[in-house]
Amino acid sequence: MKSVRVFAPATVANMGCGFDVMGMTLDGVGDVLCVTVDEGDDLQIENLTDIELPSDIDKNVVTPAIRAMMEAFGESRSVKVVFEKKIAPGSGIGSSAASSAAAVYALNEALGRPFSDERLVEFAMEGEKLISGGTPHADNVGPSILGGVVLLRGYHPLDIVRLPVPDNFCCSVAHPAIMVSTRMAREVLPTEIPLRMAVEQWGNVAGLVAGLALGDVHLVGRAMRDVVVEPHRKQFIPQFDELRRKVTEVGALAFNISGAGPSVFSLSADMETAEKVGEVMRQHFAELGVESDIYVSKVSNQGARVVE
Ligand code: HSE
Repeated sequence: MKSVRVFAPATVANMGCGFDVMGMTLDGVGDVLCVTVDEGDDLQIENLTDIELPSDIDKNVVTPAIRAMMEAFGESRSVKVVFEKKIAPGSGIGSSAASSAAAVYALNEALGRPFSDERLVEFAMEGEKLISGGTPHADNVGPSILGGVVLLRGYHPLDIVRLPVPDNFCCSVAHPAIMVSTRMAREVLPTEIPLRMAVEQWGNVAGLVAGLALGDVHLVGRAMRDVVVEPHRKQFIPQFDELRRKVTEVGALAFNISGAGPSVFSLSADMETAEKVGEVMRQHFAELGVESDIYVSKVSNQGARVVE
């Protein structure tokens, strides 16, 4: 019998313009779970957190991720997952991804590390498929497992690129206490877009990647503009355009929806501005009668890891 406890961080998917292909890792917020492997052939899930999780294990995101991994492993084991700390689902900071990432990372350790981290991303994507209405995407599970900023250059086959993170890449994230499911936030999106819009978006994605590679946080800020997805999703966030105006006024370089929302995030060139931006976000939601959790941090280069 072997038990491994793992922390997997929250993440900001899309990073503005990179719908389903870009994601970054936050510091200090995430899921903690413990995986125990023994002789046998069953899967059990226990929840010690305050967050309600589905009682049917087939509806828990870790189940398809673990099943895919055990199938690739090719030998039977009994696997028990105990959730100890959980980000609220529907948050927009990769709640489901943190669970899947932590589960496959811990299971891999418990099995003696048969799989690479990149392969773990593929298993964890099975959990994302369950909650997103059938589309597996890795822009949360990728950074949650690998850390830093991650680009999914392609999905067939999966081509994961880790990008450098500029030192002055300071992030403010607000998680308002409203719930937006990933499935719902994907259902409102168009299936086709005009070429002119695509041109603007791929210019921005290229600018984002170039800004990261050059360590130019101002270029990153200019490039974090989403003309494809945001117009359809901002309706879920109270007074989104007004909040963008407020954070820009105090020096934010960019302001976007985090993942499928309702969390929002902002980029600043120093921590002092990022703290101010976080406070502006908190006040904005408080004035609308919505509580929010605020996270201000640099992008973390550390992904999922074993903890005591
Ligand atoms: N890229 C995904 C989306 C992230 O925006 O729907 C949320 O899972």
